[in-house]
Amino acid sequence: MDKITQVQDEALAAIAAAADPEELQQVRIRYLGKKGMIQALMAEMKSLPKEEKPAFGQKVNVCKQTVTEELEKRQEELNAGALVQKMEKEKIDITLPGDSISIGTMHPLMMIQQEIEDLFIGMGYKVAEGPEVEQDYYNFELANIPKDHPAREMQDTFYIDPNTLLRTHTTAMQMRELEKAKGQTPIKLICPGKVYRRDDDDATHSHQFMQSEGLVVGEHITLADLKGTLEFMANRMFGEGRQIRFRPSFFPFTEPSVEVDVSCPFCNGKGCSVCKGSGWIEILGAGMVHPHVLEMNGFDPEKCSGFAFGIGLERIAMLKYGIDDIRNFYINDQRFLKNFDRFD
Ligand code: DAH
Repeated sequence: MDKITQVQDEALAAIAAAADPEELQQVRIRYLGKKGMIQALMAEMKSLPKEEKPAFGQKVNVCKQTVTEELEKRQEELNAGALVQKMEKEKIDITLPGDSISIGTMHPLMMIQQEIEDLFIGMGYKVAEGPEVEQDYYNFELANIPKDHPAREMQDTFYIDPNTLLRTHTTAMQMRELEKAKGQTPIKLICPGKVYRRDDDDATHSHQFMQSEGLVVGEHITLADLKGTLEFMANRMFGEGRQIRFRPSFFPFTEPSVEVDVSCPFCNGKGCSVCKGSGWIEILGAGMVHPHVLEMNGFDPEKCSGFAFGIGLERIAMLKYGIDDIRNFYINDQRFLKNFDRFD
């Protein structure tokens, strides 16, 4: 019985003296392990006379219990100490200024594209996409511009091979969508995207630029529908009170064809330097889809009709944001792009 007391006292002293979790683990093994001192006491019980066994066993159990509890207590103490030490070492100085993260800005052309998409989606249009490397067939043939047609010279083209080119206008997507519809109406689409022409770059020309095509085909679609739609668009994009004017023009894929002007948003039509005194600014080309284009794409021009338009996004962005050189959109000068910071 004295031995038990002795073992317990030793164990408690060792626990109290353990300076870190590893030392404590050693103490645990020494006293509570399978070959430990307390287990050894248990083994000794066998050699005792029967009547002494219960009291001895009970005392060993109390000893084991006491040592286990003390070990746990010390373990917690040591853990807390270790944590404090760790926190001390890894202390973070929250008064230091944070790293500034430079977040990209929305490109002005993307802003215009999204604005157009939003406003047409609001009128029930869908947004279509198509390839920038296009077949001559969709860019020209289906658009009523056969091989020897002089209108091909209106758009200097980057050819990849005689049948493949970089699309010169989003009208190529109009043709793909018409073909895809297989004569089924109604169609209400806008198709934004990049286009390419063999132009020398200057303040108003770029060999790569952006357009958005618009296309509506159905029964009884008229030029008045086109005018109402574009008037709505002009008012949304350039502010209320804009007027629209049609001037006769020519595109092989529309008949009749028009060039569309918007009343100058800078002088309200009175005449200023932006509209060169005329009070009007040209914004896009449009027209009624040519009956031959409808026919070639499997529509019956006796039963349905449609309007289409093609709008240049750079021109709209230049007007809206007062940008005087188209090259600004493509040279990625941060000083220019930062002007369109969403978080300013
Ligand atoms: N594709 C023409 C161009 O790039 C723009 C255009 C004019 C598109 C009239 C149309 C349209 O859909 O009906 O100059």
